[in-house]
Amino acid sequence: MAKKVAIIGASGYTGGELLRWALMHSEMDVSQITSERFAGQAATKLNPNLRGFTQLAFTPVKELKNDVDAIFICTPHKTGAQYVKQFFETGVKIVDLSADFRLHNKDTYAKYYQEHPHPDLLQHAVYGLPELHREEIKKAKLVACPGCLATSIILPLAPLVKAKLISVEGIIADSKIGSSAGGAGFDISTHHPERQGGVRSYKPHGHRHTAEIEQELSAINGAPVSVGMTPHGIEMVRGIMSTVHVRQTGKLADIDLWKAYRSFFTGSPFVRLVKDQQTLYRYPEPKPVVGTNFADIGWELDQEKGRIIIMSAIDNLVKGSGGQAIQNFNLMNGFDEKMGLWQPGFHPL
Ligand SMILES: NC(=O)c1ccc[n+]([C@@H]2O[C@H](COP(=O)([O-])OP(=O)(O)OC[C@H]3O[C@@H](n4cnc5c(N)ncnc54)[C@H](OP(=O)(O)O)[C@@H]3O)[C@@H](O)[C@H]2O)c1
Repeated sequence: MAKKVAIIGASGYTGGELLRWALMHSEMDVSQITSERFAGQAATKLNPNLRGFTQLAFTPVKELKNDVDAIFICTPHKTGAQYVKQFFETGVKIVDLSADFRLHNKDTYAKYYQEHPHPDLLQHAVYGLPELHREEIKKAKLVACPGCLATSIILPLAPLVKAKLISVEGIIADSKIGSSAGGAGFDISTHHPERQGGVRSYKPHGHRHTAEIEQELSAINGAPVSVGMTPHGIEMVRGIMSTVHVRQTGKLADIDLWKAYRSFFTGSPFVRLVKDQQTLYRYPEPKPVVGTNFADIGWELDQEKGRIIIMSAIDNLVKGSGGQAIQNFNLMNGFDEKMGLWQPGFHPL
């Protein structure tokens, strides 16, 4: 029998995307979706792409029942924690897409967000990046889905850090990100006339996702890893393109990187290595991954400067949130990790 699931915060962009995948998943039965602002209204009012696929209407969160097998939390950070607390003891499997349980250390959480309201629960959360924590996710009751920028930066770095092929000092990630990453809420700075045609650096250093990037890479390295990350909002709705600049520890050949990536991502169906001068798209870029759960990774060695330039592309609403949440749900329930997610993107788009 299909698993009964509910989505808290389904009127937002990640909730809407998660609903799209969940409705098409053969082992998921979406029983409830919540929104305060749109309570009583049809899901298709906000998600016209789902017309003909669902009759669900939004309910207020206080009417949420706990007779479900799994719950997805798609609310802003600082609000997700209360729902994790509410459902944790019920035995319901929880997939939290907010940032509230991504960081293991409550002091780091306090530095980047606020005092953690339920630090006692942090120890139960597994960082939901299947390519790093597949076995722990399978056993977890609470999975904290990674940030979208973090996903696009941790995945291309993890194999090289593990193989000790790069210096863990002075890593620089430069990311371009689409407007849907800011959520469905309105802000004058993201209003169309302000954003159209723009390329905007909005947090040159100290972005919150830096904390989870360093947490995960330091754990792989067994010692601190330092990463600087600068995101830029660009004129694109979905997608992230991260270009990561690192220094080689010794003189590397291309084959060394192929080996490191292939070995690390064996058994990880959603990571594709993209590096081919003969193809239409030589390196990763967002368009071929939009609407899919793939993370495309490519690189080039700059032997003259001793650098490696690594490129990675994901859809922030799929591998960066809603799709990754389904991938985690699949693992937590013993399903094939590809279930309901195995599809290519559009071309041309
Ligand atoms: N957008 C992305 O690319 C992305 C990627 C990875 C992770 N995330 C994370 O995912 C979460 C959701 O992001 P989003 O972009 O989907 O945001 P969003 O579009 O602004 O949607 C937020 C949702 O949360 C609900 N909500 C707000 N406060 C609530 C509360 N106190 N209790 C219950 N529901 C509440 C809203 O419902 P109402 O209708 O009631 O207002 C809405 O459904 C955030 O934590 C974000 O950091 C986002």
